[in-house]
Amino acid sequence: MDVSKIRKDFAVLNKEVGGRLPIYFDNACQTLRPRQVTEAVMEYYESYPACAGRSVHKLATEVSLRCDAVRARAAEYFNAENPTEIAFTKNATEGLNTVIFGSGLAKGDEVVTTDYEHNSVHVPVLELARTTGVRHRIVRSAADGTLDLEAFEKVMTRKVKLVAMCLTSNVTGYTLPAKEIVDIAHSYGAKVLLDAAQAAPSRKIDVQALGVDSMAASAHKMCGPSGVGLLYVRGELGENIKPRIFGGHGVTDTDITSFKLLPPPERFETGLQNYSGIVGTGASLQYVSSIGLDEILDHEISLNRRMSHALAGLDAVSVVGPSDPNQRGGLFSFNVKGLSAHDVAMILDNSKNIMMRSGMHCCHSFFHSRHIDGCARVSVYIYNTNEEVDVFTDAVMDLADKFSPGA
Ligand SMILES: Cc1ncc(COP(=O)(O)O)c(C=O)c1O
Repeated sequence: MDVSKIRKDFAVLNKEVGGRLPIYFDNACQTLRPRQVTEAVMEYYESYPACAGRSVHKLATEVSLRCDAVRARAAEYFNAENPTEIAFTKNATEGLNTVIFGSGLAKGDEVVTTDYEHNSVHVPVLELARTTGVRHRIVRSAADGTLDLEAFEKVMTRKVKLVAMCLTSNVTGYTLPAKEIVDIAHSYGAKVLLDAAQAAPSRKIDVQALGVDSMAASAHKMCGPSGVGLLYVRGELGENIKPRIFGGHGVTDTDITSFKLLPPPERFETGLQNYSGIVGTGASLQYVSSIGLDEILDHEISLNRRMSHALAGLDAVSVVGPSDPNQRGGLFSFNVKGLSAHDVAMILDNSKNIMMRSGMHCCHSFFHSRHIDGCARVSVYIYNTNEEVDVFTDAVMDLADKFSPGA
């Protein structure tokens, strides 16, 4: 993987911010976009800025064909059997909500999640439980955020209709043994919804090999534009899921007193869509695939190992998540004794132009249950370098010296 060649595609990495080049370590929030993606977005506005699936003129036909091609590319990316199993949503949250609320779950049914779900799963399941009486059952993870399959099996019953779980945690970087989860869930007759927002940018996900029923991801975490999510629903299962939003384009016909929904994916794509974002997503999938997911994951882990080893001896630095960097992919979540997570992020931004996330990362329940106030999070991607890691680890060592001497 040629990181210096990749860096040339990202204009922002080559522009000084406040007199220094930025060190962008906030990739789990959203990645940067290469020129191939921004050019595709611009091309939409300049060459075929029309609407897909409705009008029959030439520009509209061009948009329809382009969107179909992106759908086919997304299906290939996840090895879906058919492109119609992929719907475009506005983000991962919309896809997750669609399945959680649209699956017809009712009082007497149970939904299982982990205790480290992103609020995009956690909150809709809480709301579903509150409004329908569905029982929410939670699998407790270990102190380091890893999940024990025995603990999972203990909460499974024939009443569980949906297992909704984060494939890769946005706090710890831990990735579930998804195949085992799917097999266990299916043996109880439950369907599985995977939140693949963090996994999709760097892990090969083969939905057919996993046998997963549905899955949601977002383009902006894999070099794509903001405002596009990808929802996978297997085969005919989509026919049993109601959309979250009703209206134009999602129906075959309406009468004064009735309507008939279109089959998936159109039923999940109501209203005019984010066409520039969709074609930009096609360019991002192509970009990421051309680098190779195995190469991307290896690169992330190698950077993570470098930073983890450099900081391993410091008592003032505690890692949130598994101690083994191989289990954390591209994420290094940590705290420095004597400083709040926001202080760490602000000091490193001000002093070194290191941009990272701090706080509870939309996973408040994870932190509350462990009595931690939050953490700073470095998340690396394809354009990050060993040199950037070294700037970061040196800066953290300085912080530890200054704010927790003797720790
Ligand atoms: C694990 C996880 N799930 C869901 C989401 C929500 O994704 P989106 O912002 O695309 O809705 C995120 C975003 O950070 C995430 O990290």
